[in-house]
Amino acid sequence: MAKILVTGGTGFIGSHTVVELQKKGFEVVIVDNLSNSNIDVLLGIEKITGIRPAFENIDCVDYVSMDRMFEKHNNIEAIIHFAASKAVGESVEKPLHYYRNNLVSLINLLQLMPIHKVKNFVFSSSCTVYGQPDVLPVTENAPIKFAMSPYGNTKQIGEEIIRDTIHANPCYQSIILRYFNPIGAHASAEIGELPNGVPNNLLPFVTQTAIGLRKQLQVYGNDYNTPDGSCIRDYIHVVDLAKAHVIAVQRMLTGQAGCRVETFNLGTGRGLSVLEIIETFEKVNGVKVPYKIVARREGDIEKVWADPTYANNVLGWTATETLEETLRSSWVWEQNLAKRSKAE
Ligand code: UD1
Repeated sequence: MAKILVTGGTGFIGSHTVVELQKKGFEVVIVDNLSNSNIDVLLGIEKITGIRPAFENIDCVDYVSMDRMFEKHNNIEAIIHFAASKAVGESVEKPLHYYRNNLVSLINLLQLMPIHKVKNFVFSSSCTVYGQPDVLPVTENAPIKFAMSPYGNTKQIGEEIIRDTIHANPCYQSIILRYFNPIGAHASAEIGELPNGVPNNLLPFVTQTAIGLRKQLQVYGNDYNTPDGSCIRDYIHVVDLAKAHVIAVQRMLTGQAGCRVETFNLGTGRGLSVLEIIETFEKVNGVKVPYKIVARREGDIEKVWADPTYANNVLGWTATETLEETLRSSWVWEQNLAKRSKAE
């Protein structure tokens, strides 16, 4: 079975994708510098699949080490590139770190592809490229808006770099996946989201508040032009997202992708407000999430949710997990983490 390089494979989406790849029989090589993840994730993957993936502790910005890695693990047939910094607020404070980390790593991989005869590339992009869309749900043809942060800009520029590179090398192909808001955890609770320090994203903050690690969740604004005043997003189970990557790889390896770039939205097609998420989380898990409404967070978009029709039709992929199941899996994962840290 084909060998797949997964950069950022010990991260949140990366680790769930490795599990789905291994379940389908793919051989996986993970490259990760563990800057925002933990080596124990490999154990979690092994517990679920029975296979410990090959692992290289390398920063993708390091061209020479990446070159050696391709030599060592020869015959890699596709790359799924997750490795990137992703905190929107931090990117405003450290723009050069974001441009260097997210763009140099991408350029290195694209340069190394022809040298090591790798023709297939999957890129982690984001709904952030749409900014605040004029029309909802948002399709892949919606205009790309001015990026609200250096992080968002790295995704926009990254997509452009890929399009130009594939255009210049017509025997290569790429699938760009624009994620909406991934949440949840593997049903086994062996892997999940492991943010370093204070979480930026909603769900880890919700679960950490529910378990008592944080006193109170802050809801950023209830004066938006939405039914309950809080922001609306399209929350998608990380396992649904992971499965789309496997389909993307299969599509390229079986020659269905054509030698070009294809771009897909990965979302459920359903928009939910922050307050709806909190309420549903409390209901399905029978636990309280103390929260207070505070001022809007700078850079937040009022509302965005996906039109996933193109991915449904072309990839034959649909998000299938219910919101209830997704929020339950987040809570089971947080409780499992608490048990583990008590045992240590
Ligand atoms: C953003 C980007 C996304 C990117 C992600 C990376 C957009 C539309 N989305 O997601 O592309 O991949 O960051 O981190 O730009 N919230 C609270 N309290 C909290 C945390 C969040 O109320 O403590 C609210 C936010 O205001 C927002 C929602 O929860 O309305 C989701 O926030 P978050 O999980 O941070 O994701 P995005 O900002 O949507």
